[in-house]
Amino acid sequence: MPLTYKIAALAGDGIGPEVMAEAIELLQRCAELDDFRVELTESLVGGAAIDAKGKALPEETLSNCEVSDAVLFGSVGGPQWEKLPPNEQPERAALLPLRKHFSLFANLRPALCLPELSAASPLRPDLVQGGFEILCIRELTGGLYFGQPKGTRKEHGDTIAVDTMVYRKSEVERIANLAFQIARLRKRKLVSVDKANVLENSLLWRAVLKEIAQEYPEVELTHLLVDNAAMQFIRAPKTFDVVVTENLFGDILSDELAMLTGSIGMLPSASLGTGQHGYYRFGLYEPSGGSAPDIAGQGVANPIAQILSVAMMLRYSFHLNDSAARIESAVRKTIANGLRTRDIWSEGTDLVSTKEIGLEIRANLED
Ligand code: IPM
Ligand code: MG
Repeated sequence: MPLTYKIAALAGDGIGPEVMAEAIELLQRCAELDDFRVELTESLVGGAAIDAKGKALPEETLSNCEVSDAVLFGSVGGPQWEKLPPNEQPERAALLPLRKHFSLFANLRPALCLPELSAASPLRPDLVQGGFEILCIRELTGGLYFGQPKGTRKEHGDTIAVDTMVYRKSEVERIANLAFQIARLRKRKLVSVDKANVLENSLLWRAVLKEIAQEYPEVELTHLLVDNAAMQFIRAPKTFDVVVTENLFGDILSDELAMLTGSIGMLPSASLGTGQHGYYRFGLYEPSGGSAPDIAGQGVANPIAQILSVAMMLRYSFHLNDSAARIESAVRKTIANGLRTRDIWSEGTDLVSTKEIGLEIRANLED
């Protein structure tokens, strides 16, 4: 009997449905080739759910996620919903609650610059020649995003907005352990990013990283202040391998890293939790980019980030490493063959649609 994996697909808004369609077809083809089964539910999330059900994360969507082994997420948000109160907007009312609900504390964002696409990078060719891959590990359920108190109030005729940065030692320990475990399997170099010259939170962060480092003597740990890190990524991207940082710094730096690779349309992400369904580790997998409302519905979006998110799901939640590698090499082959969506197109390559590149990647799964 082939194993069955239960997956909740939440396509969301903007380009979400278009790129999700390609990812699902690819997943189904991969399942045929590698002899596993997929049980898929599709649910509304984000603006699409607000329009149909009155809220961004309906109960039914959440319960479909709860009974699944993993969530494949598209993207949420768009100008139609920007006038809603902040707490009801798709990002704050769907994505953040999902992360918190499932304790998805670790966000893995691999910034991969393929050699063939290094021309798409805004950096000087000598800095990116041969490509690079930096894995950004972002803490996802702590810090300024979730710390209490939070809110805006009037005081003495003035208005005060408060966000609170809070980290518990245990929260830093669990992300640090994961970062060291991942670094150990790669180049054994871990860079921890903080603001220890200013923030109490960062003093704790740095102390915990140093303590956990004792358990991983084979990994070389270095610390960078966040402002310096932002600079070093641009100056010498090829010297980095795994980077670990807190929630807000990770949000900002992962966009910077994405841009250094040329297009955010190529970058997947995995958000991993503590939850375990038997042998499976629960996770949410989504492209690092947004819903790109400006190009939605035109069939031109790059589905590769969504497709590589499927590969991450197979690897991290289901331990199907060979199937994940099959997808990744199909993507590389498609790029090597010269197919490009608009965001990564350059002179001398073939401009294709979302569906065309999806079809080619599926065809390339077979070798
Ligand atoms: C991300 C996004 C989200 C974040 C937004 C949409 C809330 O920017 O996943 O990086 O800030 O975490
Ligand atoms: Mg972001």
